Amino acid sequence: MTTLIGTSWKMNLTSTEADAWFRSFVPLVAGIAGCELFVLPPFTAIWVARVHLAGTGIAWGAQDVHPDEEGAHTGDVSASMLADLGCSFVEVGHSERRREHRETPDLIAAKVAAAVHAGMRPILCVGERTPGPLDDVVAGLLDDLGQSLARLGPPDADRVVIAYEPVWAIGEGATAAPPDRVGQVHRALADRLADRWPGVRVPIIYGGSVDAGSASALAAEPGVDGLFVGRRALDPSEFARIAWAGVTARTGGAR
Ligand code: PGA
Repeated sequence: MTTLIGTSWKMNLTSTEADAWFRSFVPLVAGIAGCELFVLPPFTAIWVARVHLAGTGIAWGAQDVHPDEEGAHTGDVSASMLADLGCSFVEVGHSERRREHRETPDLIAAKVAAAVHAGMRPILCVGERTPGPLDDVVAGLLDDLGQSLARLGPPDADRVVIAYEPVWAIGEGATAAPPDRVGQVHRALADRLADRWPGVRVPIIYGGSVDAGSASALAAEPGVDGLFVGRRALDPSEFARIAWAGVTARTGGAR
């Protein structure tokens, strides 16, 4: 399975700043192989991603989507609007959206389905709020996944990406979860997903305070299919270092 390494900028970088970011980043990852890179800017800079990334092999996408196809939803953006901008990925269910916008698993399930039906890959974020015993954590995540994936059948399942993002490991002041613990969670989730959808291998990537120092050990951990980076990727050089470290840890890299 190819390694997925991506970033969501969250609510950072204007379109002008995005232009500078891409100018700096794209040459830094020229020649990287064995991974799929993606960038999720805010809605206002997706067009900038398209300008810079079309033809590079680096994918782009969005951080949210409305579940309906169109209609009277002021301020919202539909899956077909994103697909039309060339988005391949849509992040769904990030803990900040669950907290700030009271997103429920039911709503998240509808967003996942909308993304898939528009031909994109939903990146479904799940994670426990506080650290706890492994079995409890995994049970909670499986419960959430069961609800959030409820509208997808096996034919669509291979489009889904799961991002395991322990909430306690996200954001300023936090540090990444220990790689061995991340691996245990990923492998447990992968086993259960394989039971649910035999023959489908859903990639599970890790997010939460990934930086250039932690990327190698996290990416090398069995069960970790990639990395999802927040604040450290706002510096394009650091994101490039993370990408190289991640892919080198898994494949030996190539330049
Ligand atoms: P962080 O964000 O890397 O800034 O912790 C990660 C995320 O929320 O996906």
